[in-house]
Amino acid sequence: MPTFRIRVDGQVTEGEADSETSLFAALSRAGIAWPVSCRNGTCRTCIARLLQGRVRYDIAWPGLSAEEKEEGYCLPCIARPLADVVITRG
Ligand code: FES
Repeated sequence: MPTFRIRVDGQVTEGEADSETSLFAALSRAGIAWPVSCRNGTCRTCIARLLQGRVRYDIAWPGLSAEEKEEGYCLPCIARPLADVVITRG
């Protein structure tokens, strides 16, 4: 299974995740602090903006509108990478 680099814009440290690992889990493992609460895609505490890369979700409709997804917002607690990813705080 391929692994992807997960980076927070402006930070040197980066995490690694395969396509079954959430961005939040990858950041945590790398020691990068990120706000989180529900961990199931509903509360939006973790909201981020995707600056680079692509993500997927196991649930059909995470707590984001279609417009937000088009604008590049993602929920790292449940978003899983499909490519190397760079995010910034939403
Ligand atoms: S922590 Fe609640 S949506 Fe991510």
